[in-house]
Amino acid sequence: MSNDFASQLAHAVGLVEAKLNSLLPTATSSPIAPPMRHAILNGGKRLRAFLVLQTAYLFDVEVGQALYSASAIECIHAYSLVHDDLPCMDDDDLRRGQPTVHVKWDEATAVLVGDALQTLAFEIMTNEAAAQNDTIRIKLISSLARASGANGMVLGQAQDIAAETTALPLTLDQITNLQTNKTGALIRWSAEAGAILANQPKSALSEYANALGLAFQIQDDILDIEGDAQKTGKRLQKDADAGKATFVSILGMGAAKARAKLLVEQAQDVLSPYGIKAAPLRAVAQYVIERNK
Ligand code: IPE
Ligand code: IPE
Ligand code: MG
Ligand code: MG
Ligand code: MG
Repeated sequence: MSNDFASQLAHAVGLVEAKLNSLLPTATSSPIAPPMRHAILNGGKRLRAFLVLQTAYLFDVEVGQALYSASAIECIHAYSLVHDDLPCMDDDDLRRGQPTVHVKWDEATAVLVGDALQTLAFEIMTNEAAAQNDTIRIKLISSLARASGANGMVLGQAQDIAAETTALPLTLDQITNLQTNKTGALIRWSAEAGAILANQPKSALSEYANALGLAFQIQDDILDIEGDAQKTGKRLQKDADAGKATFVSILGMGAAKARAKLLVEQAQDVLSPYGIKAAPLRAVAQYVIERNK
């Protein structure tokens, strides 16, 4: 990770965590607030928030405004992780180096924390300061709902669970479709948010995000096999045991790494129209496949 990129990411993490802290219910306001705060304020790379802030920067959108979208996507992402870790899904007891919500509290609390984080995301986006006008605000809200729901992340999660028990291994096209939904949909929204905020065509950003989202999930699948649990903050070696369909299970480790590298090069190439301003977006693409957490 270059020094420039490391400090840009650290800066974004600081901004989004301060914003989340102010948008979340205070710890004493509701019994569901402490587990919500546990789920979202304890770590996380904040890559989706970074994508929002950096694509907003491409179009000169004010950081203060973009921070609402950055916070909202981190709420949806954190909700998806709380539910992903439930015993009926991936059954994980560790997340971001901490006990998962259903372990530290209980399953009902984890379901409700997910529900509350999801609704908070949409409440955040209704804020006056989240967009320059109502038309843009509604575009952001409807695209976030679509990315999260039955044809986006939720579909991908359903496909992921269904693939555990299919008789035949998934084809490469089927895995690509699964990952495009499961991980890709929220990453795509994050990278398109800047253009939506600025009321500009998404053009190259969608292509960037599609390639980046796939590379991101390939690296997640690689880390499940080759990673260090101390660094990832989650249990590893789980996908093969659960019979998960991944790029690594289909292609093998070498070809999966080669594919991730190619996808990152594609993601970086499509940013050329944005010139030097897109340097952090190129750097984050590289980081996605070099990361160890
Ligand atoms: C993990 O996402 C879940 C996937 C979508 C693969 P991240 O690796 O972005 O998790 P955090 O936010 O950094 O904890
Ligand atoms: C989770 O994918 C994707 C979503 C939560 C939408 P994984 O199940 O591979 O993520 P990890 O490995 O538990 O972080
Ligand atoms: Mg999962
Ligand atoms: Mg999981
Ligand atoms: Mg995984």
